[in-house]
Amino acid sequence: MSIGKRSIVLIFLLLFVTITFFGFHQTLQKPIERKDSGIGEPSTPIYEHLKNYTLKDLASRCGIMIGTCVSYSPLLNDNKYKEIIAREFSVITPENELKFESVHPFRNVYTFSRADTIVSFAEEHGMKVRGHCLVWHQQLPNWILKGNYTREEWIEILRDHIYTVVGRYKGKIYAWDVVNEAFNDDGTLRDSVWLRNIGPEYIKLAFKWAHEADPDALLFYNDYGAEAINSKSNAIYELVKNLLEEGIPIHGIGLQMHVRVEWYPNPQSVAENIKRFRKLGLKVEITEMDVAIRLPVSEEEITKQAEIYKSILKTYLNSDSPQAFVMWGFVDKYSWIDYTFPGYGAATIFDNEYNPKPAYYALIEAMLDKIGS
Ligand code: G3I
Repeated sequence: MSIGKRSIVLIFLLLFVTITFFGFHQTLQKPIERKDSGIGEPSTPIYEHLKNYTLKDLASRCGIMIGTCVSYSPLLNDNKYKEIIAREFSVITPENELKFESVHPFRNVYTFSRADTIVSFAEEHGMKVRGHCLVWHQQLPNWILKGNYTREEWIEILRDHIYTVVGRYKGKIYAWDVVNEAFNDDGTLRDSVWLRNIGPEYIKLAFKWAHEADPDALLFYNDYGAEAINSKSNAIYELVKNLLEEGIPIHGIGLQMHVRVEWYPNPQSVAENIKRFRKLGLKVEITEMDVAIRLPVSEEEITKQAEIYKSILKTYLNSDSPQAFVMWGFVDKYSWIDYTFPGYGAATIFDNEYNPKPAYYALIEAMLDKIGS
């Protein structure tokens, strides 16, 4: 072959490799191509038959609410974010705006405007609101973290906090995560300002005060890593059984469900766990589901993620009297995973450009399966 001919062959070869590489790369970045006109119009043929459904319509036909956590800034600044929430979800949880540091930054100062905005948005769109959360070891203001008070003062501080926050949203927030993440993985009580300064009684006191502030609100204990039967869920089970025997007003358990593609609970064990709490007469809600993936994501992982979302929703739908399946965000670009665990992301059901991922369609399929059954 002459030098000229060899160069032409080389150029074609290079062009071929470049096109193939970028094409493949794009497939990984955007697992589903969608028309610019937007939401619910998949151009990928395998999802074509699912394009006319919304999550909330199917959820309602399954007898449950479906939801996401919502953040104040994008709700204010990102129309597409608002549009999709209104279209797809029937329940929302303020992601950070009801936490202690957000609503109670100083001892005598409460700031509700951000939470109010989210609650009003929910009201305008006929959605329910989950209140998150009243007593937690994180996201506490300095006057609490560095506070030096007597036990009586700590009790007074927590009672005032719960009365004021729950009281403000009486009749507007249907359920509260009253106590959040009080246990370590081994089932011992987690160290926190509340445990240290009030003692283990802080848990029952918190439920009692929340009930006094809004007797109609459903009161939940909420935790992560307690979805299946394990040391932590056993400890929670013992706690709530004792609380119920003592007549403490507790109505439900929140299973957060923060999982990863390489780690997720056994659905059979989740089903058994839900069953034992239901036998105590408690409601069970999935409160914060997301499925993180190690970056960069592969097509296999995106498919696996969809399977995990589907299998957890199926398990939940097949449990006794499911009522709310809530995800911790619905769009990758605002997910806490990205700024909390560098190297992980893509945890939600819509990609950064608001294209529904296979996980979105997997949820639709899980609900269609349920309706058809
Ligand atoms: O508010 C500050 C802001 O002033 C500052 O400029 C900015 C700079 O990083 O940080 C802001 O605080 C962030 C806060 O979210 C509010 O946006 C914190 O850094 C960030 O760590 C914090 O993360 C939240 C995390 O809880 C705290 O542990 C996540 O958004 C939130 O999704 C996450 O939610 C928890 C649930 O409440 C309980 N279950 C687990 C779940 C995931 O951790």
